[in-house]
Parts: sequence; structure tokens; C-alpha cells
Amino acid sequence: MVDVNTALDEAGLTNPRVREYVAHWAAITQPDRVEVVGAEDDARLIQEALDAGELLPAGEGRYYSRSYYKDTARSEERTVVATSKEDDKGVYNNWKPAAEMTELLTERMRGASAGKTMYVIPYLMAPPGSPLEAYAAGVELTDSRPVVLHMIRMSRVGASYVDNLEDPDSFVRAVHVTGDLENLGQGTPEDQRYFATVADERTILHYGSSYGGNALLGKIAHGLRQACYDGRASGAFLAEQFMLLGITDKETGKRWHICGGFPSASGKTNLAMTLAPEALGDRYHVEFYGDDIAWLWVGDDGRVYGMNPENGVFGVAKDTNEKTNPTALDSIGEGSGVIFTNVAYNPDTHEVWWEGMTKNPPEDVTGWQDWKGDLISERAADDTSPWAHPNSRFTTTLANVPNVAGDFEAPAGVPIDAIIFGGRTSDREPLVRAITDLAEGVYDGLTLGAEATFAAEGVDGQLRYDPMSMRPFMAYGEGDYAAHWMKIIGAATDRPIFAHVNWFQRGDDGHFRWPGYRENLRALLWLARFKDGEVTGRQTPVGVLPTEEELELDGVDITREDLDIILTIDNERWRQEMGFREAHLKGFDRVPEEIWEAHRRVSAALDAEA
Ligand code: GTP
Ligand code: MN
Ligand code: MN
Repeated sequence: MVDVNTALDEAGLTNPRVREYVAHWAAITQPDRVEVVGAEDDARLIQEALDAGELLPAGEGRYYSRSYYKDTARSEERTVVATSKEDDKGVYNNWKPAAEMTELLTERMRGASAGKTMYVIPYLMAPPGSPLEAYAAGVELTDSRPVVLHMIRMSRVGASYVDNLEDPDSFVRAVHVTGDLENLGQGTPEDQRYFATVADERTILHYGSSYGGNALLGKIAHGLRQACYDGRASGAFLAEQFMLLGITDKETGKRWHICGGFPSASGKTNLAMTLAPEALGDRYHVEFYGDDIAWLWVGDDGRVYGMNPENGVFGVAKDTNEKTNPTALDSIGEGSGVIFTNVAYNPDTHEVWWEGMTKNPPEDVTGWQDWKGDLISERAADDTSPWAHPNSRFTTTLANVPNVAGDFEAPAGVPIDAIIFGGRTSDREPLVRAITDLAEGVYDGLTLGAEATFAAEGVDGQLRYDPMSMRPFMAYGEGDYAAHWMKIIGAATDRPIFAHVNWFQRGDDGHFRWPGYRENLRALLWLARFKDGEVTGRQTPVGVLPTEEELELDGVDITREDLDIILTIDNERWRQEMGFREAHLKGFDRVPEEIWEAHRRVSAALDAEA
């Protein structure tokens, strides 16, 4: 039997509830050693990982890792939310009874860490001192050292975060066991993996993966699923898959904070890291707060406040380059401590490469390996598969982001001026439409959708709905979720404006009608001015659109036809969309009547204009 107490004593970890929890799971998973880790252990653990071949050097203070080739993304089918109340069952949360999942995962995990070290990672998903700190503490147990190194970058890690809790029991219990990755039947009917958040017990049990989205339990499992549940149970806050940024107009001194959700791989990280377009001169300064999670609450002054509970960025590598996202490149440079996962790698030169980093891959392929570790020089001539996995990522800390806001760790959070939703939609959704009514804003979030990746997945024109971009992270039923949104944002006396944005309309030949990336700031500037009453826009049945004169368009490379299309509403397409939305909303239990009224109002306005 491994000696848990000595390890906890050495680390000075005194919280009796944490000690019981560690001992309980060590007895089940049966590791050979237990080690408590903190951020101060990073350099030593990096060296150990390099010595063990878990990490490879990728330049000064830069590291490279590969995950098992069948373990490269989140698995939505294997992810469940478990509680003891069947009322928590929604359309998207894969609800299961808590007792069943706890028993099943306990059996999967039994003895599964034999021969390994169990790392104890006390963490905080909030800036210290935040009004939501009571929901932010957790202890992840993992048998993977690379997971520890990622957690140190993505959250605040140290024993003090759980040793001084007001209620010693108020930490999330987050157990991660990798399992025998080569024998888990990933994606087959015999799939052994399970990723469960037992939400009403604040316990997360993940078995069968060492990939970030499944294994960094502070991030998605706690920061989104558990917090989504806690936010409603406490009645105190919202936890959303949102980016958060600030814009300052240096000429007027005005400052706005905007947060919002786009489904995974739809541009949150890119938008949050954006810089002001060069053509607008030096007038605007954009600050980065967060790129994937925001927790929102109402402050004593009646405004909605937001903060990023994370401490790092887990960004998609693909297409990150000097033109699309120079900020991201600056945040993963020499000495940053960045960890790349599943990009292409050259062990001779320690270089990394991914599709879209440069126009073409390195000309001299000597030494280069693809994300699986296979030599590029030995590829068959007709092998056109990407060198880097399409979901390859970089992990770096917020402090490395050059335009991180000066107050990114301020415990008070920042007041929110606008909440935006957006998805990948090749038609119907204009560049931006502002929504001033609360129920219509929540309705817009609830009916957020993006095109299915493969045409075969759906009817032509039908979107894959992703309410508030939370579909994979929803912890309870969608109707109750909408009601909770109405309650939280409705309690604000000085409310943010809502808007829907779309950077992804396409022409018949597939080109993007809007140049996107840094230029997206122009749509946000219009929204901020609209909220402040400086521009009036043009009312349409689905919201207020900017007029061409109101958008700052200097230096934008766009054709007349494209501009006309992204600033108008396709009534016929929208009326078809309303039918799809109706079916979508009918699938949810307990949709608030205000949401149905909003739906009928928009529908009637579209009909009247047809
Ligand atoms: P997750 O981290 O998975 O939640 O995704 P995300 O929302 O952060 O997406 P991300 O910013 O990483 O963008 C995903 C992809 O969209 C990348 O390949 C980007 O290059 C591309 N993208 C982002 N913004 C734009 C844009 O404005 N226009 C176009 N055309 N593509 C964009
Ligand atoms: Mn995400
Ligand atoms: Mn992202």
C-alpha cells in the first residue's frame, strides 16, 4: 500500500477532506508513488519529462509532445453528466444516474495506476480573491506527468489553494486515470473510455485518455461542465465557453469589454488574441482576457461582470501565422515554456510545423516527422494527409500573451458591455446584428448553430445547433438553462447588449466574403458605438445591422457584391431557418415562455417583410 500521508505531509497539505479524498482514490487506483505538485515544480517536472521522452525539445524553453494516435480530441459520445436527479437530463448532456457512473468508473480505475505515480494537483479556476472563488478550487489526481505540466500552464496550481478554504469540503474532486491507451477500443462498440462529471457530488471521473480536452480536468470538466451546474445550483453565476476581450479607443478614452461564444474551432482564440487592424492606425488597443471560458455574474452596481477562470491558452495550431494571429506566435516563442501537441516535428533541428504556419511545408523534408512520428521522406507519393493533426494545439500561459490585459488577474473581473454569439455559417447570418431585448438575446444564443462539417450529416441548410456554444459542456436541461440565463442577466439593472456575428459567409466559389481575423474588430467597434447610441444602424426582423457608412471600412479588401451580402438579410433563407428553430426548441423541456414569445416575434416580423 502506497504511503499517502508522508507525501501529503511533505507538501504541507493539511486540509483533512483533501487528505481523505487522496487516500480514498489511491486505494482504488493503486499507484506506486504519490506526489503533490505545485507551479514551483515545473522546471523539475519538465526535465523529468524530457528524460523520460514524454516531451521532446522544440527550441529554447519550448517543448513538443504527441498523444496516442487514437487519442487526439475530446470524445463527445463518451462524455456524460451524471446526477441523482433525472430532471437534470437534457438533450445534449448525456445524462446518467450518478450511482451507476460512480460504480462503473471506480471499477475501470481499480488498480489502473499500478506502477505509476499519482500526482496530486491542487488548483484554482479563478483569479485569487474572485467573488466566485468558492466554486473554483479543485484537486486533480492524475497518473500522467504531461497532464501535470499542462495543468500548471492552464490553471493556478499550488497546495495553498485548497488549504485555506472557508469550507474545507468545497473543492472539486477530479480523478484522471489514463488507462491502457492501446487496448481501450477507442471509437468501437467495445469502447472502454468514460468521461463523467458527477455534478451534484462535484466529482469528475475521467478514464481512458491523456489528451488535453479529456484530461485537463480543471479546464473543461470543472471550468465548464461542473461550473455550469454549480452556477445554477447556487443561483449565482453562468459558466460559458466564451472568449473575453477589451477594446480601448485611445482618442476618446472609452473602454468596452465584450465576451461571447462560438462553437469549438470557430474562432474564439483568434478573436480574443486579435490586434487592431493596421489600417485603423494606432487608435485602438485590444486587450486579451480569455479565449475559451468566462464565468459571469451580476455585481453590486447592477452590471454584469466577467472573468476568465483559466491561467493559460490551449489553442488550435492550424492556420496560426504572422498574418492571421501574430499575437499567438509571440506567446509561444523562445522561453515561453509552450508545449506543442501533435504538430509536425523535426528531431534533428527541434523545429515544429503545422498546416498554415507557412504557405508551404519545409522544402527540405530531411528529419521531419508527421504528428504520428512517421518520417515525411518515407511517405507514399500519393499521401496528401496533413503533417500536423488538424486538432493539434499549443499550450501557453496568459502571462505570455503580449496583449494580455493589465488587469487580467483582477479579482473583481470586468464589466461586460456586450455578449456575442457566432458560428460558421456560409449564408443567412450577416456580419453583425445587434439585439437589444434580453429574451431575444437569450433566444439567439439558444438557437446558435454552425454548419455541420460534412454535408452528409444534415439536410441542406440545416445547422448543427450548439446553444450558447455549450452543446458539449451543457450540464443540465436546455430549457432550465435558458431560464437561468434570463434570471442572471435579467437581474442586471445595466444590461449588456447582445449580438450575433458571422465571419464565415462564402461565395459560390468558396471564398470568404469577409476577410476576417483582425478585421473582425470593425464589427465589434460598430456594436460598441451602437450600444453607446453613437450610431443607429438599420432595424431588420432579426436585429439591427450596421449601415455601410457606420462601419469603419478603410483599408478593407472586399468587393461591392460581398459587402452588400454581408450587410443584408436573406428573408427566404431566414424563414426556412425559423422552421428548423421551432423543431429545435420543441426538443427541449421547460423552455421559458419569454423565449417562445421572442421566437414568434422574430417569425412574425420576417413574415411581414416577405
Ligand atoms: P476551440 O479552442 O476548439 O474552442 O476553438 P476556437 O473557437 O478557439 O477556434 P480558433 O480561434 O482556434 O479558430 C479555429 C479555426 O478558425 C482556425 O483554423 C482559424 O484559422 C479559423 N478562423 C478563426 N477566425 C477566423 C476568421 O475570422 N475568418 C476565417 N476565415 N477563419 C477564421
Ligand atoms: Mn473550446
Ligand atoms: Mn480556442
